Amino acid sequence: MPGSTVDPHPGATGGAPDWPAQFARRTSLGGDELTAILSLAASTDVITFSGGFPAPETFPTDVLQDLLPRLVKEEAAVALQYSPTEGLPAAREAVATLLADGQGRSVDPVQVLITSGGIEGLQLITRTLIEPGDRVLVEAPTYLGAIMAFAGFEAEVEGVPMDDDGLRVDALEEALSSGRRPKLVYVIPDHQNPSGRSLSEQRRRELVEVCRRHGVLLVEDVAYRDLAFDGHAAASLWSLAPDVVLQLGTFSKVLVPGVRLGWAVGPAPLVTAMTAAKQNSDQCAGALGQLLMAEYVRRGHLADTLEVARPLYRHRAGTMLDALDRHMPEGVTWTRPTGGFFIWLTAPEDVDTRALVAPAERLGVAYVPGAPFYTDLRGGNELRLSYSRADDASIDEGIRRLAGLLGGER
Ligand SMILES: Cc1ncc(COP(=O)(O)O)c(C=O)c1O
Repeated sequence: MPGSTVDPHPGATGGAPDWPAQFARRTSLGGDELTAILSLAASTDVITFSGGFPAPETFPTDVLQDLLPRLVKEEAAVALQYSPTEGLPAAREAVATLLADGQGRSVDPVQVLITSGGIEGLQLITRTLIEPGDRVLVEAPTYLGAIMAFAGFEAEVEGVPMDDDGLRVDALEEALSSGRRPKLVYVIPDHQNPSGRSLSEQRRRELVEVCRRHGVLLVEDVAYRDLAFDGHAAASLWSLAPDVVLQLGTFSKVLVPGVRLGWAVGPAPLVTAMTAAKQNSDQCAGALGQLLMAEYVRRGHLADTLEVARPLYRHRAGTMLDALDRHMPEGVTWTRPTGGFFIWLTAPEDVDTRALVAPAERLGVAYVPGAPFYTDLRGGNELRLSYSRADDASIDEGIRRLAGLLGGER
């Protein structure tokens, strides 16, 4: 407006209001690390091994270019409208079909809740169950977004150690036998984020039995389940024990994350309560994405996408493992994933991977330091590498630079 001036003293006592002073307590509970990862995702001059991003080469752009206009033209009344909170029937049916085909357990589509991605599934179950101070057990290390979801609702999150076969069920049993009964145990059994490890078949059976015996909910996150390099997936925890397992899935890693879509399936009272919680958040997942996914699955395209994705990720993982073998100094070790996006690296005890983030960035390489994936003081000398979105030359060069840094060229 011509002649108007900005009031330099908008606050009641002069000066700009102190907005942070007005934040709720929960606002300060986590969030910064994930924001930093996502902000690096946009930079072009850094070789980024940080975010868990799918390779754009796997995005089925041809099929989507055909499907999307068709949905808008022929199904506008549904595709562009609000959908039921629990999801469109076609989307719930598509998930039920995938569960029956891929996990060998049939479920009535009305028992499937469609979510706006995997993170929302975590938010909904947390919001449904967690009171401040409730105990939650997770793998150590575990997915940062899960720690943030639990901590954001003021849970006391406790890590249970893993080894090369995944969560140590003996350690879980010990944790369950001491202290208060946790509200839930959260596990990523396949090609885990961040470690790349998978839970062995035998431990899967032991794990569900332990949770049954203790009457504790097991939340199974299957984000990377379909991305085994050889296409072989072990029995899902939900398929073994649908009475005590809530499964959370996402289409972000196998279709596109640009359509925020996932699912929850498990004990009916929980799924019903999560649906009510969803009414109180985004009310429904986007209908356009739901129809797109349903049609994509119905036509069998998801299987085609996986045929492209698995060899690509196997190749990239192999390239990174070769580069690590070639470049890393003595005393550094790493996991050897059989699927998914991640390798977990352990440097000698005296290395502080958090302190090396900035020097690494100056060298043009980005990773996520290990500590935020733990809920205690562990992980200071560990870090996560994601190979999913990097090409061969960048992988080799990025690992070479990182190896120099870890070897002391700082
Ligand atoms: C284990 C795990 N669960 C859930 C998610 C989030 O999925 P979405 O992007 O669908 O919210 C991720 C993404 O990084 C993940 O690694």
